[in-house]
Amino acid sequence: MANTLYIETVGCQMNVLDSELVVGSLRRKGYRLVDSATEADVILFNTCSVRQHAEDKIYSALGRLRGHIENHPEKVLGVLGCMAQKDQEIILKRAPHVDLVCGTGQLARVGELIDAARATGRPQMALSLGRKEGSKQEVSSSFESYDPPRDSAMRPTPFQAFVRVQIGCDKFCTYCIVPSTRGPEQSRHPDAIVDEARRLADEGCLEVTLLGQTVNSYRFHHGDGRVTRLSDLLARLDKIDGLLRVRFITSYPLDMTDDLLDAVRDLPKVVKYLHVPAQSGCDDVLARMKRGYTSGQYRDMMARVRDRCPAATVSSDFIVGFCGETDESFSRTMELTRESDFKNSYIFKYSPRPGTRAIDKFADDIPEETKKVRNNELLAVQNANSLRSHRAMVGREVTVLAEGLGKVAPREPGTLPQLTGRSMADHIVVFDAPERLIGAVVRARVTDATSFTLFAEVVEVESSAPARAAWAAPSSPSSRRLELPVS
Ligand code: 5AD
Ligand code: SF4
Repeated sequence: MANTLYIETVGCQMNVLDSELVVGSLRRKGYRLVDSATEADVILFNTCSVRQHAEDKIYSALGRLRGHIENHPEKVLGVLGCMAQKDQEIILKRAPHVDLVCGTGQLARVGELIDAARATGRPQMALSLGRKEGSKQEVSSSFESYDPPRDSAMRPTPFQAFVRVQIGCDKFCTYCIVPSTRGPEQSRHPDAIVDEARRLADEGCLEVTLLGQTVNSYRFHHGDGRVTRLSDLLARLDKIDGLLRVRFITSYPLDMTDDLLDAVRDLPKVVKYLHVPAQSGCDDVLARMKRGYTSGQYRDMMARVRDRCPAATVSSDFIVGFCGETDESFSRTMELTRESDFKNSYIFKYSPRPGTRAIDKFADDIPEETKKVRNNELLAVQNANSLRSHRAMVGREVTVLAEGLGKVAPREPGTLPQLTGRSMADHIVVFDAPERLIGAVVRARVTDATSFTLFAEVVEVESSAPARAAWAAPSSPSSRRLELPVS
């Protein structure tokens, strides 16, 4: 059987999770991952549409494979995910050698589509978002409705896993393509989420990251008047034996409720970190973006976070060079960043997306050069802030889950390698320690800092790594990332 598989993933954590689930389901059908596209019988790209750059990367990767596929017509080339959802016709026009195009709601059918492409020799498309008209709860056709086939080899580390709590988005910010690529917002049943997290914990997973486009808008209506909020879900996940940490991304500023902040403060396993994109500090720009809040409301939210949950760090996203962003508007964003003490900010140059409201309503009138300058200026302010707050941590102790080897090359034989991990407030922490501590939780004293990293020395090992057998990956390559640009 022609059953070797190569998959490349672009985009957000949601896509990383989708790729894991696709690989899990294909493994069940007998597929095996290989290291390079040209070695594989089935080549898949899981794509992103959030910015033009992400799409360009995919088209050039598809272009590079054209000759190879033409020489090997028996191979199956597939485009999955957000671009597939949005641009099926364009993909087949620009890359006629593509055999399957599968959107975000039909990924559970990839195996069947590969079979059909082989049997018919014709391109297969599956694009329905597969949800009942008008229903907030009905989740079908994707991986939500049945036992999700997890695959620890596809994760950032085998002991950290993403868990979807919500799909889609209803906010319709004018710049954003996500409502078209992922459909309306729906919350998964809390029992399904808790079961999945429990199963992951039983397999040796130590940390789950709950995923949703506006994760703190999570609400499950049980139909009998009962509602489960994100804070309720966190309280249930906090009790799962074996699980050490629960994180959630990405939050929407207006849904940062007090019950959620109290849950983050009080539940010991919940990571004290909030990712709450502001996007801009200028009220006119925020109104054109249709974010639904003013910079004053964002500041009020930040004040409540600092007041109710002082241990939490906050990170933000900003788009610079959005339509009509004047020097004055941009200076408001600089002000907000300067005063907000974000742990870090993800800064993006506005990229007009066909299919969004902004592209129809407003001109993309900020020159690329200005976007670049603003991006760098904002980054400089953010980096100075990060450095200041990181330096203030020198001498303090942090609790770190060791995730893997650090970037520094192994030193001379006999010396300890550098490990990297995250604190309970999501700081990146590096320290020298034996490799066996990967997957362990250590208490470490911060000795030095840059704007990106805390350097530390181990004080005590709080919990050792789980037995490797519990999460050892099958001996095969993991997924490739083309980039990891967002949230
Ligand atoms: N152009 C640039 N950045 C964008 N983002 C979303 N849409 C666009 C766009 N059209 C950014 C936002 C969002 C992050 C995931 O990507 O900052 O929070
Ligand atoms: Fe990209 Fe958004 Fe799709 Fe994630 S949901 S892959 S960020 S377009």
